[in-house]
Amino acid sequence: MSLTVVANRVPIRQSDDGDWVPSVGGLTTALLPVLRQRGGAWIGMGEDPALPERQPFPADDPDFTVRRVPLSQDELDGYYYGMANRVLWPVSHYMIQHFEPNPSFMETYRSVNRRFAEAVLDEVDRSDEQIWLQDYHLMLAPKWIREARPDVTLGHFWHIPWPAMEVFRILPWARELLRGMLACDLVGVHVQEYVDNFLESARVLLGADIDGQTVHYNGHTTRVEAHPIGIEVDRFKQMADSDEVRTKAKQLRKRLGTEHIVIGIDRLDYTKGVLSRLEAFERFLENNPAYHGTVSFYQIATPSRTKVDTYQQLKREVDEVVGRINGQFARDNWVPVNYRYRTYTQFELCAFYRAADVALITPLRDGMNVVTQEFITANQNGVLILSELTGAAYLLPEAIQVNPYDRDGLAASIRTALEMNPDERTTRLNALKSTVEGLDVQRWARGFLDALHA
Ligand code: G6P
Repeated sequence: MSLTVVANRVPIRQSDDGDWVPSVGGLTTALLPVLRQRGGAWIGMGEDPALPERQPFPADDPDFTVRRVPLSQDELDGYYYGMANRVLWPVSHYMIQHFEPNPSFMETYRSVNRRFAEAVLDEVDRSDEQIWLQDYHLMLAPKWIREARPDVTLGHFWHIPWPAMEVFRILPWARELLRGMLACDLVGVHVQEYVDNFLESARVLLGADIDGQTVHYNGHTTRVEAHPIGIEVDRFKQMADSDEVRTKAKQLRKRLGTEHIVIGIDRLDYTKGVLSRLEAFERFLENNPAYHGTVSFYQIATPSRTKVDTYQQLKREVDEVVGRINGQFARDNWVPVNYRYRTYTQFELCAFYRAADVALITPLRDGMNVVTQEFITANQNGVLILSELTGAAYLLPEAIQVNPYDRDGLAASIRTALEMNPDERTTRLNALKSTVEGLDVQRWARGFLDALHA
């Protein structure tokens, strides 16, 4: 049975020497082996009109087709920068202060989702086909695919939180969007709480019949299941154990020169809680003069969605807070906050994970948060401070869990982490490691596809 994956982004990129290679990322790594084995297509947006619509991959001995849905600048602005990033993203993350309900975004989102559906229909020619859509960019495409092809199997994985019904219904198009999703046979989310929210949305907003985790609506049945995503555990373990990473981690410790290293690693996104985290670290320094000179906080922020003004604004605010903290606390031979705004390779990130004593992973809201899993896998004896407002928190009770809005609590947890005795560190980290091993990303993909087949 061949597979058609439909996601906002295509899974390949052009390397410096011009060759096409798989892009880095959990979804790509999980799904390329399946596509290689089964054949099929991966459909994503085409931002660059110079690139072909259909591209067999790999070029010399193709296993599957990469298909681009070419988008004009207006389409990109309405569908991606508008509806996806200014409407669905903030609402799903409970950050409605960033929500911009512009009807023209929805209009473009509709027409772009229709173009995705047409591309799918064009690729799919066998009735035993499985189609797997990804994320909030593609809520409406399932409905149009279903109308044309009642026989295909349609799955959708939602990678961000499915918010509480009362928050989801803030969307002026909540019902239409839900109807799009309910054309699927299976909807996957990370944790049971999001399943419950989805079911409640369907029940209240559409009057759908709910039977266990199955939604009956308009003559169609949709199962809703939790499939928590993982990382490539084996590869991260190998990377973290490599000589290159060990050396880099040692160099980093030496360069910072402090007894303790606390890290934060995120896409620069307002959902990640970088500002609150910096303010909590500032509070920690205010409350604990004895730690001055002994702790370095290293925050890596990867540039993201830089054309959206809220992201530009956030960057300015982070720059300012970092400057303020260092201005107040730095002294000869000690800079409390080391801040880097750029993209790092996975090897470099592994060195940070390995070098750290404490990871501060404190999103204001996050569907899962895979950085957590990367830290747990790569680190050897550190402590994880984790926001309770993440999907990961439901799975990782051995982390120190905090409310990221509670500045004093977060500041206190930094001290607790630094002073945790080695036995407790080891016990907690081992428990976390064994959970993360069970969440392997290949297993996630197989689990979802098996459930879709069932
Ligand atoms: C989140 C979303 C993904 C998205 C990623 C990066 O993890 O769930 O669908 O690809 O952020 O965001 P971007 O807008 O750059 O694709």
